[in-house]
Amino acid sequence: MKLLKFDTINSTNTYGKTHFSDLEDKTIITAKEQTNGRGRFDRIWVSKNCKNLYLSIILKPNNIKNIANLTQYLSVITAKIIESYSTKPQIKWPNDILINDKKISGILCEGILKNNKIAGVVLGIGINLNSDIETLKNIDKPATSLNIETNKEIDDNVFLNNLLDNFFKNYDTFIEQGFSYIKEDYLKYINFLGTKIQIQQNDKLEKVSYLAKEINNEGNLVVIDKDQKEKIIYSGDLIL
Ligand code: BTN
Repeated sequence: MKLLKFDTINSTNTYGKTHFSDLEDKTIITAKEQTNGRGRFDRIWVSKNCKNLYLSIILKPNNIKNIANLTQYLSVITAKIIESYSTKPQIKWPNDILINDKKISGILCEGILKNNKIAGVVLGIGINLNSDIETLKNIDKPATSLNIETNKEIDDNVFLNNLLDNFFKNYDTFIEQGFSYIKEDYLKYINFLGTKIQIQQNDKLEKVSYLAKEINNEGNLVVIDKDQKEKIIYSGDLIL
C-alpha cells in the first residue's frame, strides 16, 4: 500500500484517473483540500481544508466480478467506524452515509477502461470529520460532520488509518465473495425498506415513486412500482 499525500489538489479521483496506469494497485491518494471535489452526477463535493477526509483508492483486482459493489463494501467499513464514535449512521442506498438524515460521507467510484476492458477503479470517499456549521449550511442538501455529532474534534489521521486497515483487512475476501459477504452488515445500516421512496436516475430526470422492498444478493434495490410490479434498480439516487 502506497500513500500519496497532497495538501491541495483539484480532486483525488481526477488525479487517480489521470495517473492510473502509473499508479500501483492499492495506492491511496489523500488531500487536505480539493479545489474541484466531485460527487456523483457531476455534483460538487465541498472540500475545504478543515481536517476532513478526501481520499481515493486505486484498485486493480484480477477478479473484477464484484467491483460494482466496492462502494457498498467501503460504505459498511466507514459506517462501522462512524458508529464507533457513539453515533447512529445510516446507509442510503447505494452508498451515502447519513446521520439523522444528514449526509456525512459520499463515495464516488470511477471505472477505468483499457482496450475496452476494465483495468480497475478509482474509489473515492469524502467524510466530513471537522466541518464547521456555516460551511455545512451552504451545502444544497442537509449535511453534517462527525465533530458536530459528537461535540469533539476528530483526529483525521486516526480515522484514516482505521479506515484503511479495515478496508484492506477483508478486501481479498470481499473481492472473491462480493455483496453476499457484507449483506448482513450492510442491512444493519439500512432503514428505508418498506417505506415509500423516490428514485432519480440523474439530476435532469424526473423522480419516480416506489415502495422499497429489499436489497437483493447483488446489492441492487428491489422496489414495487405503482402497478404493483417488482423492479430492480441498479443505479440512481435515492430520495427518502
Ligand atoms: C457523492 O456523494 O456524490 C460522492 C462524493 C465523493 C467525494 C470524494 S472526496 C475524494 C474523492 N475526490 C473527489 O473529487 N471526489 C471523491
